[in-house]
Amino acid sequence: MTDGLPMPVPDPQLPTRVRIYEVGARDGLQNEKETVPTEVKAEFIHRLAAAGLTTVEATSFVHPKWVPQLADAEALFTQVAGIEGVRLPVLVPNARGLDRALALGARDIAVFASATESFAKANLNRTVDEALAVFEPVVARAKAEGAQVRGYLSMCFGDPWEGPVPAAQVVRVCRRLLDMGCDELSLGDTIGVATPGQVASLLTDLNTEGIRTDRLGVHFHDTYGQALSNTLAALRHGVTTVDASAGGLGGCPYAKSATGNLATEDLVWMLHGLGIDTGVDLTALTATSVWMAEQLGRPSPSRTVRALSHKE
Ligand code: HMG
Ligand code: MG
Repeated sequence: MTDGLPMPVPDPQLPTRVRIYEVGARDGLQNEKETVPTEVKAEFIHRLAAAGLTTVEATSFVHPKWVPQLADAEALFTQVAGIEGVRLPVLVPNARGLDRALALGARDIAVFASATESFAKANLNRTVDEALAVFEPVVARAKAEGAQVRGYLSMCFGDPWEGPVPAAQVVRVCRRLLDMGCDELSLGDTIGVATPGQVASLLTDLNTEGIRTDRLGVHFHDTYGQALSNTLAALRHGVTTVDASAGGLGGCPYAKSATGNLATEDLVWMLHGLGIDTGVDLTALTATSVWMAEQLGRPSPSRTVRALSHKE
């Protein structure tokens, strides 16, 4: 190790560059008990961008009663829009959410579907197919307005009510999301139960059904400490978009067993150790998560944040 950074030893089996899709400000903060002031969220996003993250999911234009933490979506988006060289995706659950996002000039939209009926009901108050029917015109309009559209798919591996999720359910909803025009998909392990063999197996099943790896990102929560191993399995399969949350913030308010996402610092430590380019300044990112932990009043769960911030 030199200067708090890992010694790069590349692995020729892996991609040379990975796009980190930062979700800390949205997935990370949506579940906080105390309200985080809009100015703090805005500073968080600005600092993430300054640390080299080029895709920083900002907020969700959802119903404020369903996710009170993100009720300031308009005010926040206005404070961060236009950061040079940074894409700022926002979640929209329906036409109302899309209207709100487009009115502020959002250029990156994400809809969020579920592979299971239980979570579709809990998270969107709809069946899986009802939610897809809501998304269809939303995606069409977002594309017509020139936006990039991501389709999240939750509960791809296990579901707290239904247990292990059959790959066929995941394949079916992925196909629908791509057919309606999503540019990319993000495969969510919402409650963090997946293990690497399951990840490789699902990616293979998706490929067999004609869904190309270059349309897929991965979104691992770290409940059982598997997020980094699962990411490595996905990278070995050719995935180059990985979702992560600075400092490991997070959880989903509608899936009680979900903890934070894979911590961006833990991901960056591994990727830089493998000689994989991310464009991220790990020192600046760690300082940002230490600062955010102070705002939230509790330490970051990220092992890398803790190791780097306790070095001196
Ligand atoms: P609903 O109660 O069925 O809503 O909720 P509705 O369509 O019946 O509308 C009821 C009222 O809400 C109406 O107002 C609408 O206008 C209003 P009224 O006419 O009664 O005055 N409304 C809205 N207001 C503001 N913004 C909107 C909006 N939509 C309706 N967008 C709804 C359905 C989808 C709205 C609700 O279930 C919801 O907002 N859900 C969001 C849940 C959420 O954000 N979950 C977390 C994100 S997903 C996640 O974390 C997983 C992920 O990280 C991947 C992974 O880990 O797996 C992405
Ligand atoms: Mg999530």
